[in-house]
Amino acid sequence: MTNSLSESELPLLLDSGKIQARVRELAAEISRDYAGSTVHLVGVLKGAWIFLADLIRHLSVPSTVDFLAIQSYGAEIVSSGEVKITKDLDLGIEGRDVLIVEDILDTGRTCHYLLDVLSARSPRSLKLVALLDKPSRRIVPVQADYRGFEIPDVFVVGYGLDFDQRFRNLPDVRYLPKSGFGTRASGLDKDLA
Ligand code: IMP
Ligand code: MG
Repeated sequence: MTNSLSESELPLLLDSGKIQARVRELAAEISRDYAGSTVHLVGVLKGAWIFLADLIRHLSVPSTVDFLAIQSYGAEIVSSGEVKITKDLDLGIEGRDVLIVEDILDTGRTCHYLLDVLSARSPRSLKLVALLDKPSRRIVPVQADYRGFEIPDVFVVGYGLDFDQRFRNLPDVRYLPKSGFGTRASGLDKDLA
């Protein structure tokens, strides 16, 4: 039963110290690459907001921030794997050095779609940073320019990522034990990315 699942039953995948150290490394790499320019961070709601908040505080280059929200349907719900923007950016990105900030690359559909849509708006450059990557789940070929951790095919929660809106607040990344959940959360939270 989902609602009876408590945090202490979730096995640990990445502890908060490890995440923080990696976020600092990513920020250093990004700061080197964007030296001399302003990086425009585009956070994908909701999962990426905690990652973005930590990342931006370690950047040594000037930055601006905007957010968009995506609705994605997993193959479990709609076979087309359709993705759409439910909240668009507030600011135009033409001529900006845009860095999409995403929590996790799974099938790749969301990021493939975002890269497509945003590149049509003529940014000066467009890159992607994903904290987590599950390459074994990929359906659409997408690669992050910056990647925090490669992880196995498990459903993860914490550090912004949820299961049915729960567990975003956990400082660590944990995963749902397979028993008691049927098939990988049945795509339940996919529409609330
Ligand atoms: P994709 O379009 O299949 O790559 O899915 C990306 C989105 O699905 C992410 O932005 C997450 O919001 C959500 N997602 C994928 N895998 C997980 C997971 O293991 N835990 C929580 N959310 C996930
Ligand atoms: Mg997301």
